[in-house]
Amino acid sequence: MNRPAKRGQPRQLVGQPGRVELGGTTSSVRGVTMVAMVIETWRGDITTLEVDAIVNAANSSLRRGAGVCGAIFAGAGPELDEACAAIGYCAPGDAVVTPGFGLPSRWIVHTVGPVWQGGNAGEDTLLESCYRRSMEAAVAVGARSIAFPAISTGVFGFPPERAACIAVATVKSTSIPELDRVILVAFDDPTYGYYRRLLAG
Ligand code: APR
Repeated sequence: MNRPAKRGQPRQLVGQPGRVELGGTTSSVRGVTMVAMVIETWRGDITTLEVDAIVNAANSSLRRGAGVCGAIFAGAGPELDEACAAIGYCAPGDAVVTPGFGLPSRWIVHTVGPVWQGGNAGEDTLLESCYRRSMEAAVAVGARSIAFPAISTGVFGFPPERAACIAVATVKSTSIPELDRVILVAFDDPTYGYYRRLLAG
């Protein structure tokens, strides 16, 4: 049974074993190196995580969908349908926030990834924007930890390895001091392998 997240305290990852802590961005203060943000990967169901915010791979009309979107709506309960209907729309590459309702996470950041069209329609830039805007939206409501699914790599057809490269590069290069922890959640072995390799490199 997952415990509800308490604001302002370190969060524990729960669920199946397989968590690896692979890296973080660092800064140097008077010669002492400080870990500013830990980036890690974890394999499993994102809806089980006790973090401040989990990210939903949403559609523009913020309706209940399949894949991770379906799992998040199922876990959060009907209040999420109402909250999303009240917001009504999110542009591709942007992010909006709702409470987590029945989920262990306090917040859900809904971001709309690009639909893969062959790679020449700005898909990479839009995906990068999803990761960056989601982090910004999360800290705007006070989150210090955030977990991402592999946005766009399911129904939207983005090639998973290319998406993993963008996810890791964007999270590493986005400097948000208020964020302590970013978890890249993999739902399958190949994606978990990409994240492990990219975070180790
Ligand atoms: N936990 C973590 N990851 C998950 C989970 C889960 N419970 N369920 C699925 N995934 C993974 C998939 O394996 C995939 O790698 O999430 C990734 C994203 O897949 P989708 O959920 O299909 O999201 P996306 O490709 O961005 O398509 C979004 O699908 O469900 C609709 O409403 C949604 O229209 C939107 C579209």
